Amino acid sequence: MGFLVHTGFEEPDTFSSQMALCRELTDGMPFGVNLYIGRAPGSVERILSFIPEMVANNVSCVETAGQNPGPIIPALKEAGIRVIHKVPGVRYAHTAQRLGVDAVTVIGNECGGHPGVHQIGTMVHAAQAPMEIDIPVVIGGGIGTGRQLAAVLAMGCEGVIMGTRMMVAKEMWVSEGYKTQLIAADGSESTVIKRVFRDNHRVLANETTKDVLALEAAGVTEFEAYRDLVSGTHTRAGYKSGDLSRGSYDWGHSAIFADAIEPVEAIFDRMIDDAVAASQRLHHLTSESIGLPLVSNIHN
Ligand SMILES: Cc1cc2nc3c(=O)[nH]c(=O)nc-3n(C[C@H](O)[C@H](O)[C@H](O)COP(=O)(O)O)c2cc1C
Repeated sequence: MGFLVHTGFEEPDTFSSQMALCRELTDGMPFGVNLYIGRAPGSVERILSFIPEMVANNVSCVETAGQNPGPIIPALKEAGIRVIHKVPGVRYAHTAQRLGVDAVTVIGNECGGHPGVHQIGTMVHAAQAPMEIDIPVVIGGGIGTGRQLAAVLAMGCEGVIMGTRMMVAKEMWVSEGYKTQLIAADGSESTVIKRVFRDNHRVLANETTKDVLALEAAGVTEFEAYRDLVSGTHTRAGYKSGDLSRGSYDWGHSAIFADAIEPVEAIFDRMIDDAVAASQRLHHLTSESIGLPLVSNIHN
């Protein structure tokens, strides 16, 4: 399912009309809302103010991300909304589980967006999380193929999340120029900025990231010096114009898998076919095809 991001909307009213549109377009299928809990004061209060509109629009599931979701979980639970909390490492998934979320999404270093300060890879998370976490686990960061989906399911997780890969979907409002650059990309175009604030952010390397990294290298730690560079103004303009030289564009390694502008349905169909083919490649590991259970084979 898709997630509508609440931070893009200034007012609960506009957000509400977009949720209503989303409900209509998805024809009763589930969709979620992403609630990014920022560091700035007032972020929690703002999210709480959106909850009645989410209830009115039958939103059954939210993805929380950013800061600790503790202060908003009781209100979401009371509203009957399921909470998937997104974290950049299994260590944080333990905390989310203790706080009572319904599921966790663990994002690895390859991701577009926030890979966390430890920048542990997705493959490690996918193996580790189901060994330690008792609630359902979703894996993200660098995912863009069905073979990765099959691997994640085989490791004991429940699903995947994709950001970068989906930006070329026909339904995405971003300009064709942006999509064309993503299709041409091989996944090596990103860099990680804002390490100095322990707010690691994987974005497309461009003029802005050069300036940001120069400030970081010079040891500048006052956010004011960065504010204009990392504010969303240039980014919003770039998504629309396709000029990506300035702004911060979340951009992960899975850019390599974004190979054509096509509808979401076609992307998912290809992924599912690929996942099925991947799982079939493993059939030779089962007892049926080799005649003996693998474990006794090893013991013999
Ligand atoms: C263009 C773009 C915008 C994103 N915006 C948000 C956001 O607003 N809130 C959020 O929690 N995550 C956001 N993400 C992160 C994704 O939800 C997801 O964690 C990440 O993209 C997974 O890694 P991938 O890009 O390798 O698929 C964004 C990612 C991309 C690529």
